[in-house]
Amino acid sequence: MSLKESQTLSDFFYSCEYKSSRLFNDFLTILTDKLNKDKTSLIAGTQTLSLEEQKLLTSWIEKKKEDYPLQYFLNEVSFCDALFYVDEGVLIPRMETEEIVLQALKKIKSKKLNIESILDIGSGSGCMGISAAMSLKTCKELILIEPSDEAQKALDKNISRHRNKINSIELVSKTFEEVELDKNSFDLILSNPPYIAIDDPDVQNSVYVYEPHMSLFGGVEPTELIYSWVCKAFEMLSGRGLMFFEFSHDQKEKLEIALNKFKPIFFKDSFGKDRFFMIDKSDL
Ligand SMILES: C[S@@+](CC[C@H](N)C(=O)[O-])C[C@H]1O[C@@H](n2cnc3c(N)ncnc32)[C@H](O)[C@@H]1O
Repeated sequence: MSLKESQTLSDFFYSCEYKSSRLFNDFLTILTDKLNKDKTSLIAGTQTLSLEEQKLLTSWIEKKKEDYPLQYFLNEVSFCDALFYVDEGVLIPRMETEEIVLQALKKIKSKKLNIESILDIGSGSGCMGISAAMSLKTCKELILIEPSDEAQKALDKNISRHRNKINSIELVSKTFEEVELDKNSFDLILSNPPYIAIDDPDVQNSVYVYEPHMSLFGGVEPTELIYSWVCKAFEMLSGRGLMFFEFSHDQKEKLEIALNKFKPIFFKDSFGKDRFFMIDKSDL
């Protein structure tokens, strides 16, 4: 591609050796989300790009060739209508995780529950717990459990960013196995645990190379980790409380057997795959 003192986005794009509509969309996202430029005038060509801006887009082309996730390049992800800081220390929040939070909010509304306390186990960026706490105006307390030092750096940024919309947020820097919290004290427990098997051959290259392994892999048999987290979390759930967990599309059968005593209700994601379960303590 050729860099010029000032040129339109389309001139810059057509000078690139590798062109695709995805690349053009990435350029637009970088210019609008990272640099706050106006999309309409970029497309219309009434706004030109500076040399610095063209260099930034050029650096993205190099990163894209290496399968680098755009979200890490932007350092930002939109989740449930809020923006979350992300970097290589945390998992990139996924669409299906957003769906589980929306399902939880829907269920809470239909049951007319006043949720006062929320626990998010394995918070990563904090997207699940923070989004739920911001939506539930009755929430007085959010506890985030995240043992990874790298993830905590990103999480701290998101706590600062959203703190003014939540009554109280506390980060517990321990593994869930080490945590000691009061029994029957949370009305809502959310978790997207590391549920990929260590020997899973189907993990995408860009996920394996760039996302933290501590956020992905749950040992040889991740359903055992999920089972042990559910047992511990269940004790912490209040009598009217709800618990929502995400899991991998091929784990439902094992989880149905292992979690039978908790009467889990399974949900599919928008692609029709079994991906979440809910446990309602008031049903037991
Ligand atoms: C799949 S990621 C989910 C992150 C975030 N909740 C999301 O949905 O984007 C799992 C998270 O659990 C954390 N984690 C791993 N082992 C843990 C443990 N033993 N106790 C608590 N959290 C753990 C990881 O560091 C990671 O941030």
